[in-house]
Amino acid sequence: MNNLPSHVAIIMDGNGRWAERRGLPRLAGHLAGVNRISSVVTSLLTNQVKYVTLYGFSSENWNRPEEEVKGLFQLLEERIDREAAEMHNHNIQIKHLGRINGLPSTVQNSIQRACQLTQNNSGPVLNFAFNYGGRHEIVDTARKLIEQNIPADRIDEQVFAANLYTAGIPDVDLVIRTGGELRISNFLLWQAAYAEYYFTDVLWPDFTPRQVELALAEFGKRKRRFGGL
Ligand code: FPP
Repeated sequence: MNNLPSHVAIIMDGNGRWAERRGLPRLAGHLAGVNRISSVVTSLLTNQVKYVTLYGFSSENWNRPEEEVKGLFQLLEERIDREAAEMHNHNIQIKHLGRINGLPSTVQNSIQRACQLTQNNSGPVLNFAFNYGGRHEIVDTARKLIEQNIPADRIDEQVFAANLYTAGIPDVDLVIRTGGELRISNFLLWQAAYAEYYFTDVLWPDFTPRQVELALAEFGKRKRRFGGL
């Protein structure tokens, strides 16, 4: 396939509805969602995608019932070591995007273990956005620039981008959102400025490698002009 994206970012929405339709608790949907990650990432990497960013927990997800938030954290802690070992075997680098300090210390440790295990890998990069908000990221970047005493007239788009959570990672080419909603939900506001968007009604636990192929085929048809003619 020609015209493949280099960086794909995914808003994995619809776990709750997937569970509700089966008469299951919402957390069963999140478990099915976690189980879906590996096949989708594998299928993207098979298609030469070099950077994958997954939205695992947003800065707004704290507004969910405490039980659901705790359940998500528990799921992460239970699964991350196994998933990270698998990624490590495939030479994948795991990076975290977001405010790690705002998470419970056990969750912070789990994420840090995964990042450290894979930090010297030279293969594809998997960004895991957890406690992430696009506006938080922009605010944190502004703070970082001020802390470094960078004069205002030295700040341009390159300098700004080099201080984002995603420093060194190219802009997003394709954003996929499952679950039928048509919005960006504070995800990668800076990096997705010129991204193509693919929205599907398919719920995240049902988003199979076949669905990945459909999204990539659609991307292949888009004419990207980056604001030019
Ligand atoms: C939403 O579906 C998705 C999330 C809250 C984020 C994605 C989370 C996962 C794939 C599982 C958690 C990941 C880890 C590694 C712990 P929703 O609850 O918004 O679904 P709904 O719109 O149908 O209610």
